[in-house]
Amino acid sequence: MHDTLLLFGATGDLAARQLFPSLLHLSVDALLPGGFRIVAVARQPMSTEEFRAWLGDKLAREAAGSDAVAALLACVEYVHVDLADAAAIAPALAGISGRCVSYLATPPYLFVTIAQGLKAAGLLEAPSRLVLEKPIGSDLASARAINAALDACLGEDRIFRIDHYLGKAAVQNLLALRFGNTLLEAVWQHRWIESVDILVAETAGVDGRESYYADYGALRDMVQNHVLQLLCLVAMEPPASLDADVLRDEKVKVLRALRPFRADGVGTESVRGRYEAGLVDGEPVRGFQLQAVKGREPVETFVALRASIDNWRWAGVPFRLCTGKRLAQRVTQVVVNFRPTSHWLFEKPRRERASPNRLVLRLQPSENIELELMSSLAGPEWGALQLQPLPLDLSMEPPLRRRIAYERLLLDALNGNSTLFVRSDEVEAAWAWIDSIESAWRESDAPILPYMAGSWGPGAAADFLRNLPTSAERAR
Ligand code: BG6
Repeated sequence: MHDTLLLFGATGDLAARQLFPSLLHLSVDALLPGGFRIVAVARQPMSTEEFRAWLGDKLAREAAGSDAVAALLACVEYVHVDLADAAAIAPALAGISGRCVSYLATPPYLFVTIAQGLKAAGLLEAPSRLVLEKPIGSDLASARAINAALDACLGEDRIFRIDHYLGKAAVQNLLALRFGNTLLEAVWQHRWIESVDILVAETAGVDGRESYYADYGALRDMVQNHVLQLLCLVAMEPPASLDADVLRDEKVKVLRALRPFRADGVGTESVRGRYEAGLVDGEPVRGFQLQAVKGREPVETFVALRASIDNWRWAGVPFRLCTGKRLAQRVTQVVVNFRPTSHWLFEKPRRERASPNRLVLRLQPSENIELELMSSLAGPEWGALQLQPLPLDLSMEPPLRRRIAYERLLLDALNGNSTLFVRSDEVEAAWAWIDSIESAWRESDAPILPYMAGSWGPGAAADFLRNLPTSAERAR
């Protein structure tokens, strides 16, 4: 296991909210190597003591205890350097050597400069590794440029691109569910499945990230990565093994089979929205456009898309993808809607009203899997069989604490296991599809519809939101 972590962007939001808390929990669970060292790198001039005090304050919120925080802080030292100046990086990191993992929790425009600085410092020599946060670029051309420049610094097998959804236990469970069960694999195709709904709804807004978000919007911020990763895990062919490249080969095939959007179809196949002032969890919140960054193209905070995968398994099966900020509930779920039975025997509910079977995989905020099967109600009288959908419920609350997705990913990066990281061709195939949507929107002048914060998005998106959790399901 590598024993030095260089964390670039160490004073940023991601480092404070996710990365250092993850390192703290890994340290408490004794999962970090002996002699582990964290070199926190950022622009702000600060001494190691000042940085430790700042970080200690942030970590005090974690339920780990002050001794555990002190133990982690003792491993941390701080280096400040202008991250946009490749020539300044090597001198600032002089004295660091050994098996390093450099984690770039910075905006993508700094990736190449920092990598070049690290290379000049000799810190990308094998077996050192580089970890990159999403987004990798903002379209296909910029992603290709970043990938090519990184390729000149170190081999693809030592580049770890993060999509933190892949670190979530419930997302990994999609693999277990699909490939550990004979029953599901047998019906996992267009003959038995009518449609698939993938929903990532957030109650959080854009607050504090306006500048980043004004360049991205919901499509590039969420669909290009998290939503498409979920789609890949649902739609991919069974890989021959869990070897990183074998698995990623299958995901790339799905991404390449996504049908590009065209201007003449985008009006019926997508909805864009942007939240206006409203109430979320009973609290008034401001609309996005009121805070929008001046002088930029307007972006959406909500997007719904009907995706088609042009291959044998999924021909004719719509994948309805939907994500948005400031929606009514925080919920991430995949719903697989099976086709109705080919012949209906029962009086009730009438065939046209009988719900077909559904498999609901709820990933957030709680984790559970439900398979809805039709069954008869034991009624008091001997009448006709009355059917209703009843869920087979597999609740998956973890026995102890739910791990932060980054714990798993940091550990895998330190151990060199790249199965849960995204390969360059995967990133590029995803951007190619996203670019087709962006250009179809531009060509057709697709409107961005307003919706009230705290609602389920623009009314025009109702068809994309057929499987919202009921209040009973949300309470489970
Ligand atoms: C990030 C996006 O990648 O994922 C954010 O940039 C989004 O806009 C976040 O809020 C959602 O992650 P999670 O784990 O809270 O579902």
